[in-house]
Amino acid sequence: MSEKIAVIGGTGDLGFGLALRWAWAGKQILIGSRDEKKAQEAAQRLKEKLESGASVAGLENREACVEASVVVLAVPFTAQAGILKSIKDSVKHAILVDATVPLAATVGGRATRILGVPQGSAAQQARELAPASTPVLAAFHNVSAEALQDLSVVLDCDILVCGDDSQAKQTLLELIKLIPGLRPIDAGPLEMARVVESMTALLISLNQRYRVHHSGIRITGLPI
Ligand SMILES: NC(=O)c1ccc[n+]([C@@H]2O[C@H](COP(=O)([O-])OP(=O)(O)OC[C@H]3O[C@@H](n4cnc5c(N)ncnc54)[C@H](OP(=O)(O)O)[C@@H]3O)[C@@H](O)[C@H]2O)c1
Repeated sequence: MSEKIAVIGGTGDLGFGLALRWAWAGKQILIGSRDEKKAQEAAQRLKEKLESGASVAGLENREACVEASVVVLAVPFTAQAGILKSIKDSVKHAILVDATVPLAATVGGRATRILGVPQGSAAQQARELAPASTPVLAAFHNVSAEALQDLSVVLDCDILVCGDDSQAKQTLLELIKLIPGLRPIDAGPLEMARVVESMTALLISLNQRYRVHHSGIRITGLPI
């Protein structure tokens, strides 16, 4: 696969972790930020972590999207709609992967509670705001950003992928397989994202209860 992956919010915890793991697997990464300089600094930080010829560039969000065939959106829920409106014209030819969790913490509430989203989920809100031609998938809600960012951590997590475009979903499943320790699972239509997003609140609660940072999920009984 030769596609470039843009990570919007790639300067933040989840986005940087995903960018790092994919760059480690040899993928070409474009880190997007509202601030080009901040994106370039994150790209430099990523290269220093890998100590090899990683293909990583830092760009302003829209510029990052234009060059990418897959765009991962990893921003806080309160920023999701605004960022999507700003990149809308640049994702017409890409697959959009939304990782947003509508945690109440983003509006000052508890991290163990989920906000109600009129569309049903943050991913369905993304579907509403993205161009009709852009396939929208939901993924990466249940993986620890902290684990992704620490290359000494052996990942051990299923990634539930929701979406209504089977070809786009297949592309993302293959990209997830490139990251050792992550198993992609086709979790059905985009509307299932409502359930998957809410599972993050449960994982945060488990992290607090067991005083850990890396809880994740494994689904048993599947023939994959
Ligand atoms: N952290 C996790 O373990 C984890 C796991 C699964 C899912 N998620 C979800 O993934 C998304 C990103 O999480 P995160 O922990 O990576 O978030 P974060 O570090 O707080 O923010 C990620 C990036 O979002 C960008 N951003 C755009 N608009 C923003 C605004 N108004 N306020 C703050 N940042 C803004 C910032 O990039 P620029 O300033 O460079 O534009 C920031 O670096 C969230 O929806 C979260 O619920 C997180």
